[in-house]
Amino acid sequence: MTHEMNLAVNGTTYPLTVDVSRNLLSVLREEVGLTGTKQGCDDCECGACMVLVDGQPVNSCSYLAVQAGGREVTTIEGLGTADDMHPIQAKMLEAGGVQCGFCTPGMIMSAQALLSDNPNPSGEEIRIGLSGNLCRCTGYQKILQAITEAAVEIR
Ligand code: FES
Ligand code: FES
Repeated sequence: MTHEMNLAVNGTTYPLTVDVSRNLLSVLREEVGLTGTKQGCDDCECGACMVLVDGQPVNSCSYLAVQAGGREVTTIEGLGTADDMHPIQAKMLEAGGVQCGFCTPGMIMSAQALLSDNPNPSGEEIRIGLSGNLCRCTGYQKILQAITEAAVEIR
């Protein structure tokens, strides 16, 4: 069964007809053309697919696209560009928090949600905020450093 909907992503509204069973991740990547959000486990375990829906982090692999109707979705493309990076993106690069980069968009979206709620998180709070994001390259220490430095810059 299909459903006509307006999907608001990064400030642009996309009129779409989507199967009601499709997840937000596949619609973002295949219909909207925003491939920054990654598909990892496809089972709500790794956080590679993390986006914000009305500012709240969600695993888009486990969130129906139709649930996002009437809400504002933010993906990694909505945070910054290569020429005008968001402070979290810039600090991830600077601190060496990016290795293969597959987990990076999801990590950054979780960090953005965390810092929006808590601009001055402790190390423990950053760890908890990123606990739903796995990095197979195990670069956690540099990721934590990057987010700590980004928090200082954003404040
Ligand atoms: S792809 Fe969604 S949590 Fe892993
Ligand atoms: S940088 Fe490779 S999975 Fe995290």
